[in-house]
Amino acid sequence: MLRLRTLRDVDVTEKRTLVRVDFNVPLQDGTIADDGRIRASLPTIQHLLEQRAPVVLMSHLGRPKGKVVPELRMDPVAQRLSELLGRPVKKLDDCVGPDVEEAVRSLSPGDVVLLENLRFHVEEQANDPEFAQALARLGELYVNDAFGTAHRKHASTYGVARLLPAVAGFLVQTEVERLSRLREGPERPYYALVGGAKLSDKIQVLRDLLPRVDGFLLGGGIAFTLLKAQGYAVGRSLVDEGLLPDAEGFLKESEAQGKVVELPRDVVVAPELRPGVPARVVRVEEIPEGEMGLDIGPATVEAFRARVEGARSLLWAGPLGAFETPPFHEGTRRVAEAIARSRAFAVIGGGDTAAALKSLGIELPENVYVSTGGGAALEFVSGKSLPGLEPLLP
Ligand code: 3PG
Repeated sequence: MLRLRTLRDVDVTEKRTLVRVDFNVPLQDGTIADDGRIRASLPTIQHLLEQRAPVVLMSHLGRPKGKVVPELRMDPVAQRLSELLGRPVKKLDDCVGPDVEEAVRSLSPGDVVLLENLRFHVEEQANDPEFAQALARLGELYVNDAFGTAHRKHASTYGVARLLPAVAGFLVQTEVERLSRLREGPERPYYALVGGAKLSDKIQVLRDLLPRVDGFLLGGGIAFTLLKAQGYAVGRSLVDEGLLPDAEGFLKESEAQGKVVELPRDVVVAPELRPGVPARVVRVEEIPEGEMGLDIGPATVEAFRARVEGARSLLWAGPLGAFETPPFHEGTRRVAEAIARSRAFAVIGGGDTAAALKSLGIELPENVYVSTGGGAALEFVSGKSLPGLEPLLP
């Protein structure tokens, strides 16, 4: 297993510690819709506070692309964190510069501050060396607890980690430990259950997983491009025309390698995506021209359920239907219930899948691990080296 230097390997007593967290939480009308990522870093922050370390937290929020976007300021995050910690968390107005340096120098042991959104500066994503230097001036020690951003080579995840003593926080350590079960010698059979809207977001992951898994169970919007590549007429379903050759290539390669590929056998169709729209189940050979597929049908659920029952390892990324709009949540719900009953070790990656399960009220047992990472979790289990973890290697 990947061994990292961790918080346990360093004395943090009274050391001003710069912590990269992933507080990129979903917002709805200015309030936090899911604070899971904030809660997940509490053990690291609490440990530092117990050791009387002044704590300087930094994160991105959304994709402001180097501009100050008022709706993406970190204030609601600081407020939520303060409630969870039961102590004040001051949000600073920037993440670099003389005022920020002055503010962090005046911190006392046990104080916590949160810097402003790192991505208000274009230099963050460019991994700009001077910006990394400016961040490094804010701490004596660097802790990376931002597993969800570990696949990004940015100033706060990579550049700064080369300039200060750098260790992994407890969340990064836990994620690496749990996800390594799929990365290294997973118990067989091992299936990847992949859904979500866009094939462009998932095609590379599918290719990377191909040599590692015994097969794929594919639903959601991505399935329609694959079905079309197989020659089915899919009506008005979501299809990424530009990716048809890639979809065909992936299916051919899976066949050549003898992998199981379960694509929908039946789908729930409707003329449009709207709550309560009249919907019906059709076989994939019979998708009407003017309708769109919005969920997997019962025969597909049954096929997926049988695979899940026989599996020893599972990876799930992406909902299997338009779960936010009933009745197109049924496929995702029924497959999630099968996973919750199964004896497989399962990893759920990607905020949208976790959010789907939460909104459907599905209780997940011990054998199911929900990662805080989306892209990062998928890249890690497909064997890639993550830039955010590299500087933490001994
Ligand atoms: C995520 O939500 O996957 C991480 O916070 C990374 O965000 P990004 O995809 O905007 O880099």
